[in-house]
Formats: sequence, C-alpha cells, structure tokens
Amino acid sequence: MSGEDIYYKGDSDYWKAYREGRPRVPDSYFERILEYHARNGGEFNVWHDMGAGSAVHTRRLAPKFKKTIISDSGESNIEAAKSYLGEKSDSYKFRVAKGEDASDLEPGSVDLVFGANMMHYTNVDETLRAVVHQLKPGGTLALGGFGIPILLDPELQNLWTQISHRRFELTFESNREATGLFIQASSPHDAVSFDTQYFRPGALRLKFNERDGWSWRRCMVPASLDESIPHVKRFGKEDEIVHENNEDWNFDADVTVMRKILETFPLKPDPVRENLWRQFEAAFGDKKVSATWPSALTLVTKK
Ligand SMILES: C[S@@+](CC[C@H](N)C(=O)[O-])C[C@H]1O[C@@H](n2cnc3c(N)ncnc32)[C@H](O)[C@@H]1O
Repeated sequence: MSGEDIYYKGDSDYWKAYREGRPRVPDSYFERILEYHARNGGEFNVWHDMGAGSAVHTRRLAPKFKKTIISDSGESNIEAAKSYLGEKSDSYKFRVAKGEDASDLEPGSVDLVFGANMMHYTNVDETLRAVVHQLKPGGTLALGGFGIPILLDPELQNLWTQISHRRFELTFESNREATGLFIQASSPHDAVSFDTQYFRPGALRLKFNERDGWSWRRCMVPASLDESIPHVKRFGKEDEIVHENNEDWNFDADVTVMRKILETFPLKPDPVRENLWRQFEAAFGDKKVSATWPSALTLVTKK
C-alpha cells in the first residue's frame, strides 16, 4: 500500500470529509515553525508545502514567504489544491510530484520545506535526500503530525481507543507488507533520523499533549500488534525531545464531532467496529466532553 493507493483519487468529497475530521490547527503551531526558522537564520523567500493534499494548510504559511511551492503525488489532489487556493496568484507553483522527487527544483533554492502528515507514505530516506537537494544551507525542514484525539473522560476514551485500535488492526492486517508505513505512522517521526552530514545536529522534536500516560502510539496501536509494529526511535545524540501540554489544541467533543473524526477517511463496513461505535454513542449521549489532539512538530536545519 503506497500513499498514492490511498490518496491518489482524493476528490472534493474526500477532502471535505478530511477537512471536517482533522484538527483546527492553532496559529501557535505555525508560529513555532516560523520562530525556529528565523532563529536559525532562515530566509523567507521560497517555501514548499510537500504532500500538501488539497492545500489543507498552505494558507497558514504562504503570506510569510514570497513564493509557495505546492506539491502532492496525486494529480487529483493538486487539482483540488488549485481550486481551493485559486490558480492565479504568481506566488503559487503547483507540482504533481512525490516528496522523493525534487529533480526539477533548483538545488539550494528553498528556504523551508513543510511536510504535514505525509512522511510515512514516502520512502523516508529518498525524501530526506530530496529535501537536502532543494533546501538552502540554513534552511528548515518542518515535519508535522496530528494524531487521534484524546477524550478527557476515562470511560469514553477507553471505548474510543478500542474503536481506533480496531480500525488500525484491520488496516494493518490487510496491508501487512507495509509494516514500515505503520511504524512511521504510529509514532510522531520518532523513526525519522537526520544524518548530521547534511543536517545540523540537535533536531527539535516537539510532542504536544501526550498527557496522563496516553500517547499517540497507545491510541493507535493495540497491544496485540506491539511486536509487529515496534516503536522505533532513531533519535540523534543531540536531539532535543520536548513534551508539552498545549491548550491551543483542546476542543469540546460531542458525538457528532467524533463521528466526523472517525469518517475522516472512508470507512469499510465492520460489524465489530460498528458495535463498538454503538456503545460509544450510547455512553456519550448528549454530553460535551473536553478533548485534545496529540500532535508533533519536528524541526531540523540543513547544514
Ligand atoms: C494525510 S494527507 C496530508 C495532507 C496535508 N499535508 C495535511 O497535513 O492535511 C497525505 C498526503 O500525502 C500525499 N502523498 C502520499 N504519498 C506521497 C509521496 N510519496 N510524496 C508526496 N506526497 C505523498 C497524499 O497524496 C496525500 O495528499
């Protein structure tokens, strides 16, 4: 299973459901990227939204740079990005291209590459090579990852985790050959290492809202798959790993919101998950429950 198999035909219905089911990313997240980039001497000419899908986050950073490159491996996703952003602005350059392929980009021409929720679909080593090719010395690679929300109500969180586990289990069982993808997907870039021949030592690995013993991995991977999908950590000796609770990601969940989150990606019929959902819905009732999104931001500078 490759990224294209899943996303290649992302049409407008697909991206509508996706936008509704994924988090409203707070401004502070993008400010953190810009602050890191400026602090490390980055310039603000060209940035690249890699694996941008339908340009879900492009507008959040585009105003800070003179030029924006928007890429995705799926042609229909780039079409959706064009209709979302409007094609006319001279500051946008659209590309149908994998993250692994930067041969059409001038070497050392990009100040910042942002890849959100996409690295796990790529051949990570090839994508990092392509990133090194396009980045200027002193340029930033920012990898974003937004997990599955945590409900701050133990009973509901327990049922929600069972639903998430069931879904993850079925996806894994039907794609066992793609273990690498699941290893990458179930940790916030922990399995991505940055070669200090090309990147400055000391990547900053920010992990938000992995609170109260809950973690992104625990939300996703059931204990039965712990060995098949090990938690691979490829941290550099000088990497800075920072855990923070960040209230900007908090939201009030109700059963309708949670259904939209579940339906972010098309659901296959599954009586076990459907039964769990009915229990979850009954336990939720009309309540509103505090919830938060675990998320990650990994920042590294090219030498
Ligand atoms: C989960 S979506 C993320 C979209 C957007 N970046 C976001 O954070 O909402 C993953 C995107 O990665 C794209 N993708 C999959 N394989 C890719 C590859 N090898 N290179 C670049 N993009 C890829 C998919 O087409 C899809 O649009």
